[in-house]
Amino acid sequence: MKSILKFALCAVLLCSLAAMPTFAAGKTYVIGMSQCNLGEPWRVQMNADIKNEADKHPEIKMVFKDAQNDVLQQRAQVEEYVSAKIDLLIISPKEAQPLAEPVSKAMAAGIPVIVLDRDIIGQNYTEFIGADNVKIGRAVGKWLVKNYGGKGAKVVEIMGLQTSTPGQDRHSGFLDAIKGSDLNVIFRADAKWLEPDARKEMESALARYDKIDIVYGHNDPSAHGAYLAAQAVGRETGMVFVGIDSLPQEGVVYVKQGILTATFQYPTGGGEAIKQALKIFAGAKVPKRIVLGSRMFTKDNVDAGGEAIP
Ligand code: FRU
Repeated sequence: MKSILKFALCAVLLCSLAAMPTFAAGKTYVIGMSQCNLGEPWRVQMNADIKNEADKHPEIKMVFKDAQNDVLQQRAQVEEYVSAKIDLLIISPKEAQPLAEPVSKAMAAGIPVIVLDRDIIGQNYTEFIGADNVKIGRAVGKWLVKNYGGKGAKVVEIMGLQTSTPGQDRHSGFLDAIKGSDLNVIFRADAKWLEPDARKEMESALARYDKIDIVYGHNDPSAHGAYLAAQAVGRETGMVFVGIDSLPQEGVVYVKQGILTATFQYPTGGGEAIKQALKIFAGAKVPKRIVLGSRMFTKDNVDAGGEAIP
């Protein structure tokens, strides 16, 4: 009886050892991060989130490349990572279509790929991590209809890059939510996520329309650029500006200052990417998609940390 018990105990121990993450002893894992640009605070934050998490794991060596918002440069940088035989690639791609091919090449070379925030065409990667942009766009639309519906409000939509998936999804979710309401989108432009472009587009909208009630910017820099354009011609008072991202040092501050009426959070996913990379190195099976949660901030809830988007 005793020996059966011993055998069973040993079997349990062996099984649990097998289930534990096993790292090759003494091996350093090189993770290449391909960032589409570092011109915006949100992307600087994403890299910082990656670095902070990676710093907790001495077996990880991080390498960062910044494509400076240039698709060709980002393609070339991914190819450099593949030639250097890194252990894992994290990519936050500028656009969905052009980055699909180099990612496929990395996969073909046996390099696992985590796609972060913006998706690529096709699903030839190990794992995607990002928040649900259709849901966020829909939450913006629902919130606007609830708070400003029934008054024939005129809306300007300053869109994010329409060749990137968050730009497409924040638009389609929003359209879906305002369908059947009396919110009327009178002006819409692609400001490519950039504050100076958003400001210019808003200048055009202001020149064309005497009445603008609401500005929906697909990110906080766009909403802020639009605000500056309105302020420059003395028309910002009473206009509602809503954005997405909610960085504590950017969008959330704009809400506290009364510049934005609301901001909807878009988490960077940087820390999660490193946690998932560790699982991949340990040979664990990871989900194809990880959807991150999001919160919203208005002046009424900002001091309490905002509220979750259901
Ligand atoms: C930064 C950014 C964010 C936005 C995200 C979408 O480049 O424009 O402001 O939420 O990209 O991918």
